[in-house]
Amino acid sequence: MKLLFATHNAHKLAEARALLGDRFTLLTPHDCGVDEEPPETQPTLEGNALQKARYLHRRTGLDCFADDTGLEVEALGGAPGVHSARYATDGHDFEANNRLLLRNLEGQSNRRARFRTVVALILGGEEHLFEGCVEGCIAERPAGDAGFGYDPLFRPEGSDRTFAQMSADEKNALSHRGRAMRRLAEYLHGAGK
Ligand code: IMP
Repeated sequence: MKLLFATHNAHKLAEARALLGDRFTLLTPHDCGVDEEPPETQPTLEGNALQKARYLHRRTGLDCFADDTGLEVEALGGAPGVHSARYATDGHDFEANNRLLLRNLEGQSNRRARFRTVVALILGGEEHLFEGCVEGCIAERPAGDAGFGYDPLFRPEGSDRTFAQMSADEKNALSHRGRAMRRLAEYLHGAGK
């Protein structure tokens, strides 16, 4: 079965292929002639994931899914949340985002945070949402070189290492996106796809 995944990120694509298995031919927007970025202008992760999936469904008519992720820090009232990619600047400047996060948490003893991913699936014209979360805390300083984004600062609950100090397999077993994608995979397999 063909399924379009709203990503240009090779890492996410490989992860999704591994989780969904051989029964699915995963296509990217580029494979379907869609090279522009789908709009992402909603105030929630759910809204953005659905907006991206609906856009691609309209453009291609294919069954498809899209994901959106945010880092929600308790002491910052859930920020950066849906603004995680553009927290410090207009671009995806991971180092600037991490510096700003540490600055905003200076002197703060509550370091609790969680990553949350929402996946929106459009299958046979019907919409479905899947969520995956991982609880943890924001370290006092960055550690590790693996991964991307806030990985050097995020220590998942029960671990003394940040995501950036873990192998990709270790991180995927625990991560927000891994959990949301496994829920998507279970749903698709349960639906006989
Ligand atoms: P996206 O919705 O997957 O593009 O994620 C939005 C932003 O959240 C990214 O630009 C990263 O800053 C951050 N982010 C998403 N997933 C992760 C992750 O697994 N580790 C660290 N940061 C992440």
